[in-house]
Amino acid sequence: MNAITNAETLAIQGHDSEDCNTSSNPSLNDIIDARLSRRSMFRAAFGTAGTAVLGTVGLSACGGGDSVASAPAPVPAPLPSPPPSAINLGFVAVAKNVKDDVTIAQGYTATPLYALGDPLSSSAEPYKNDGTDTNFDNRAGDHHDGMEYFGLNATGTGRDATSNDRGLLVMNHEALTDQFLHAGGTTSNPRPGSESDKEIPAHGVSIVEVRKNSSGKFEYQRVSAFNRRITPLTEIEMRGVVRGNALVRTKYSTTGFNCRGTINNCGTGYTPWGTFLTGEENWAGYFTRSATDDAARGGATANSVISLARYGRNQGAASRHGWQTSGSEDRYARWNISQTGASATDDYRNELNTFGYIVEIDPYDKQVAVRKRTTLGRFAHESGVFGKVTAGKPLAVYMGDDSRGEYIYKYVSSVNWDDADANPASRMNTGDKYLDGGKLYVAKFNADGSGSWIELSMANPAVAGATNYKFADNADVAINSRLAADAVGATRMDRPEWCAVNPINGEIYYTLTNNANRKLEPTGASQQGLDAANPRTYTDSFAGGAPGAAQNVNGHILRVRELANESAALGFAWDVYLFGAQADADQTLVNLSGLTNDQDFSSPDGLWFSPKTGLLFIQTDDGAYTDVSNCMMLIGRPGAVGDGTTPTLAYTKADGSKVNVQTRMGAKPNSSALRRFLVGPVDCEITGCCETPDGKTVFVNIQHPGEAISKANIADPTKYLSHWPGNAGYGAGGALARPRSATVVITKNDGGMIGS
Ligand code: FEO
Ligand code: CA
Ligand code: CA
Repeated sequence: MNAITNAETLAIQGHDSEDCNTSSNPSLNDIIDARLSRRSMFRAAFGTAGTAVLGTVGLSACGGGDSVASAPAPVPAPLPSPPPSAINLGFVAVAKNVKDDVTIAQGYTATPLYALGDPLSSSAEPYKNDGTDTNFDNRAGDHHDGMEYFGLNATGTGRDATSNDRGLLVMNHEALTDQFLHAGGTTSNPRPGSESDKEIPAHGVSIVEVRKNSSGKFEYQRVSAFNRRITPLTEIEMRGVVRGNALVRTKYSTTGFNCRGTINNCGTGYTPWGTFLTGEENWAGYFTRSATDDAARGGATANSVISLARYGRNQGAASRHGWQTSGSEDRYARWNISQTGASATDDYRNELNTFGYIVEIDPYDKQVAVRKRTTLGRFAHESGVFGKVTAGKPLAVYMGDDSRGEYIYKYVSSVNWDDADANPASRMNTGDKYLDGGKLYVAKFNADGSGSWIELSMANPAVAGATNYKFADNADVAINSRLAADAVGATRMDRPEWCAVNPINGEIYYTLTNNANRKLEPTGASQQGLDAANPRTYTDSFAGGAPGAAQNVNGHILRVRELANESAALGFAWDVYLFGAQADADQTLVNLSGLTNDQDFSSPDGLWFSPKTGLLFIQTDDGAYTDVSNCMMLIGRPGAVGDGTTPTLAYTKADGSKVNVQTRMGAKPNSSALRRFLVGPVDCEITGCCETPDGKTVFVNIQHPGEAISKANIADPTKYLSHWPGNAGYGAGGALARPRSATVVITKNDGGMIGS
């Protein structure tokens, strides 16, 4: 590993979790003697059948709609319904490895398709990948992350959700490996404007057309009417409950109707009406506050000071990239959120309140503004995934807040789903209809395997009467969702990352990636004790080193089944689908799921169900098992909540006293239920997954290969940890290339479905 300075660590680690939940919300105090057995609870909740086959999930959207061109809308063709059960896994598991390559199951091919810096118009030259490239408004951004596929009709004039041959990939560009963006690495503060002007637009979202060539291979299209960048400088509309509120009025938008850009976009969602959702995750770290800003705002008890602390911006906090040091122009100044002006519309004191939302984009229409859906709450958003879509019933969107000890949320629309909205005249106005007027809930997990969704609004006395923060109205509740969730006693989780909905039975899966603050004997407000839904804390060593501190090292995947399978349910059942672990770990406290060498993984993050095959794709963003294997993707064929056991984890405290924690665990996966499918190059994470509707092409993102690079070593390519995808023959640089985040396209050599 190259030597990394503190500032470089800040930049590299910046997209990792913040840690600012100091609420005293309980870990469960009834963890020892759960009174209901899990089986009896499950029967009570769902009766005996338990697995009613649902209608299509997010599949009913097809064809037509407004487009950039004015060609007649194509006739929608029906999409296939989900299979009654997931297809069988038909590949041999890939071995763990640390190769600087994408290793995929035999019989499959993974090919780089679209990488950092690739031009998105004829105005941008091919990427030289030597740190001299500019014009990122017209190039792929860095750190490819969540991604969705939107089908295009054969003539390329508009939407055809059934297309397997031509479509738009819409993806997040979460963060930067900034050293590689500049010829000699980054310059320290004050940052040259020339560097900031590359780094800022390398964030955001890109929309790129992909199309099969005459050989049937997907290629990205350098020139397309749909190619587009959305960056931290793109004007975006504030929609929903927060729109126009005093807390989002800034020098940029004195009305609070608009805001400037989106940043640190992580997970995604695909709406039933055919638009893209992107979650703003660790946005707070981009902003700085002066060391005396608390006093300027009225002191430690001022609402804005409480809010800023809860969202990770204490006074004196440094900004990740120092863009505010590049000049007095607004595009730089706005990264300093100190209160300096006479009023909120004279400075950027409220700028932070314009980030942290689910954002909706219509990838088919450049003319309609991007909209922040503020009613879905403000936190470190990962994905926003729809539950089952049923005519005449509300829609639910499931979401997680990725920081240690943060919460799981869902949003429920106030209006019922109308199948006609699968092909609306205006997709974004349809978004207004379903996403601007509903209710936000936070999850509480009980030791007996049940759980509840607690409303976050002024209608809830626990919110209206909160003592940790005095809420003014429902806009204030949405802006400060974390504080509202604290007030209602939600369960503090092990970093909720992505979620995914099983198209076969409607169950909702959440990755809980890991948690350094989960302790048997927590001390201080930032640590959490054990509970049934977050039951593990243990030590781990790295490459034979000394064991580290006890924590949830490897993470787990939790799943939820709504009562009566209703998206609007206020209660649910849950269990832990899988506990991440290394295969050789102790099976009574660590490798509870009994993972074998063909299945073991650490730090699950990206999560996606194929609507076509019903298979679950699990992606890792790990630093705990990387002495043995680079990050990976596994494919699972899961069962259902309640198909396992209720193990009890026996811990011993420092004073010798015993603590038993009973959890709810899904069936241990046999080799037919979980296999490793892909391992990425060195020092990457695997993230983002989507497919063509036939299930025969899957797109996956490789994020930040070789990101651990110091400025001191930027001139010596032999010191780079990774050279992918240049070393795979993609783009400039060859075997000594600077590494690049990139999308790979995966096909089965015999033309079959992915996973078969
Ligand atoms: Fe952007 Fe929490 O992963
Ligand atoms: Ca280890
Ligand atoms: Ca991630």
